[in-house]
Amino acid sequence: MTLDLFEKFDPILNDYNSLPDGAENPFTVSMEKVLSPTTAIINGRETILAGTNNYMGMTFNPECMAAAQEALTDFGTGTTGSRVLNGTYNSHKQLEETLKEFYDCQHAIVFSTGYQANLGVIATLAGPKDYVVIDTDSHASIYDGCAMGNATVVRFKHNDPDNLDKRLNRIRRDDPEAGILVVLEGVYSMLGDQAPLKELTRISKKHNAYVLVDEAHSIGVFGETGRGVAQEQDVEDQVDFIIGTFSKSVGTIGGYCVSNHPKFEALRLVCRPYIFTASLPPSVVASATKALELIASTNLRSKLLDNSMRLNKGLCDVGFNMGTTGESPIAAIVIDDQDTAIAFWGEMIKEGVYVNLALPPATPNRMNLMRCSLSAAHSFAQIDFMLEKFTLVGKRLGILQDKVASLTG
Ligand SMILES: Cc1ncc(COP(=O)(O)O)c(C=O)c1O
Repeated sequence: MTLDLFEKFDPILNDYNSLPDGAENPFTVSMEKVLSPTTAIINGRETILAGTNNYMGMTFNPECMAAAQEALTDFGTGTTGSRVLNGTYNSHKQLEETLKEFYDCQHAIVFSTGYQANLGVIATLAGPKDYVVIDTDSHASIYDGCAMGNATVVRFKHNDPDNLDKRLNRIRRDDPEAGILVVLEGVYSMLGDQAPLKELTRISKKHNAYVLVDEAHSIGVFGETGRGVAQEQDVEDQVDFIIGTFSKSVGTIGGYCVSNHPKFEALRLVCRPYIFTASLPPSVVASATKALELIASTNLRSKLLDNSMRLNKGLCDVGFNMGTTGESPIAAIVIDDQDTAIAFWGEMIKEGVYVNLALPPATPNRMNLMRCSLSAAHSFAQIDFMLEKFTLVGKRLGILQDKVASLTG
């Protein structure tokens, strides 16, 4: 008898099948209509979106939409080809020029997603004799880039400069000549904590390692002109490669890598996730280009961080166990057990608030999280509505009971 290839998925399917049906199932929920960057119709009712990574609210920006519509009319719905065949239009080159201006750097390559940017750059740059050194809390695309490549992969403790130093010391002791790529993130996506890039880049450079920073959650959000945490912490000259995505602050889809390395363009000839996939549609390219121009000059960053402080502080004040501190637009409540987290999510959607349910293995330390990612487009009234509903559901599920009792007792 042949083995059923799906048998190995039985445990996860059993878990999945025990979830509530329809409206309260976090994995099958869908948006019937999206009304704005912060509201949508879900299950027939208007719902506040508190977990979309739409940090700058760019998805409905009139200038981005007009640019996309014009490109759609002029160039059609897609390129039907790879960047190295028929899939490079003038607008793809223009987008790369805009990225170079945005980052004030020599080279920029656009990928079809941020996932592919990490996959391609990490797997291609670090060869069989090289090392990739990554933070344990790295995004799946960084892990997958390591798995796709041939380099030796070494992990260091999350945001721990001493541990990074120890790992690099050992590599250099065993292999003084090795090429080393240290991969960091500006903001870690689940808990929204920033990397101490000053320390981490100093240590990397002490050991003669290249540094790559994934700014997926920080482009648009941090730095004087929105370049991210490397700009915010004034270490851009210590960073060799910046990876980013258009799927969050930029409000569309796509990924990129920028660099000043003189041989960077070689990636166009050897990087498989760049070569063996179709390029971004012209409408996406046009809206991304416009959004980058707007992000560089926006004054919305402080509004976004004010929103985040208001939500994080409000949730903390009522007694939730917060995984976050308000230092980024991400707010995450830690829930002790998975069933309660799933129930919490279902109650929130019934109350008209969509948040992200984040479960292991996607979370650090196997946490169950109710994760919010705020937008500069959220009003304080919307934040206060979220707070009211979180508190209501927290009490309903008994999570806030102890704190409330001890405050009143
Ligand atoms: C840190 C990080 N890197 C890369 C990506 C991938 O981005 P994209 O959505 O463009 O594939 C994400 C997306 O969630 C992310 O959080």
